[in-house]
Amino acid sequence: MPIVAATDEAILRAAEALARGEVVAFPTETVYGLGANALDAAAVAKVFGAKARPRFNPLIVHVPGEAEAESYAVVNDTARKMMCAFWPGPLSLVLPRRADCAIAGLVSAGLDTVALRAPSNAVARALLQAAKMPIAAPSANRSQRVSPTTAAHVAAELGDLPAMILDGGPCALGLESTVLGVAGDTVTLLRPGALPREEIEKVLGHSLAMPESGAALVSPGQMEVHYAPDTPLRLDAAAPREGEALLAFGPDAPEFSPMINLSPRGDLGEAAAKFFAALRDLDRLGARAIAVMPVPDRGLGEAINDRLRRASAARAKSEVRVAVASGTDAP
Ligand code: TXA
Ligand code: MG
Repeated sequence: MPIVAATDEAILRAAEALARGEVVAFPTETVYGLGANALDAAAVAKVFGAKARPRFNPLIVHVPGEAEAESYAVVNDTARKMMCAFWPGPLSLVLPRRADCAIAGLVSAGLDTVALRAPSNAVARALLQAAKMPIAAPSANRSQRVSPTTAAHVAAELGDLPAMILDGGPCALGLESTVLGVAGDTVTLLRPGALPREEIEKVLGHSLAMPESGAALVSPGQMEVHYAPDTPLRLDAAAPREGEALLAFGPDAPEFSPMINLSPRGDLGEAAAKFFAALRDLDRLGARAIAVMPVPDRGLGEAINDRLRRASAARAKSEVRVAVASGTDAP
């Protein structure tokens, strides 16, 4: 089992493994990442292999801060404003690659942009300092599965594929970073995430643009099939049914078992932090479905609802495929 407590010594060993072209899982404030040296295409290819991820889905590159970001991407005033306000923290910026950008083209999956983020988690920062390289890291789950928020989740997803899993405890925020595209002074919300839209719009002074439909090509991670447990989800459930497990939110949850309440006091931050672990735990019960109570669509609720929709869309699609293959009508 490659889980190792994230001591200074372990972080140094992880940095050495990265320098040798190996992949290492590490904690961030959002979710655990599966990292590789972003300058080394062969190392980055190992990340795609471990995740069984489609090559056209580009990766986020982790850097210590703005200075390093400027050496790889074109940072305009709008992007700088976002970095000043929110870095280090749960915000990824998709920016034009500089002509002399040394980051492997595979990281960008052939696009002329690169997604950059400066994490605030102390272990992630120490690893970046020790490794002295940009670290490309998607969430450390197999492709289209739920993101890991503990070292044990990573081990369950990837076994001993990473050379090491640095254990820094559960992730403080529990949802992936918010991804923004910056083109001129237009800022587009490519993926809702752990930094709520309202905070970004306060700093920008105007609303975020939304991706046009067909934006899957601009941000392939927006593919609907994503974040899926094996058990089907039933969203906006007013009440749980026989044989289901209940994912509840808030003080009005019914008495039911099995049930996980994301936040009995109705706190969206608490709900975000518990969300992926709760999906995993309910998924293991072999229930007929996971009934999900409505979660308010403000603040972090926007990202939670986004992940819930994707998880149920993934499921609906695979059911259609099965139905078509067996010659029955799609449900
Ligand atoms: O919180 C996070 O962002 C975590 C931690 C480990 O930092 N990472 C993460 O990475 O969630 P991943 O690979 O699972 O998601 C990356 C997202 C995808 O939606 C991808 O399409 C988008 O970022 N992305 C990356 N590079 C892009 C680019 N050049 N253009 C558009 N979208 C990009
Ligand atoms: Mg992911």
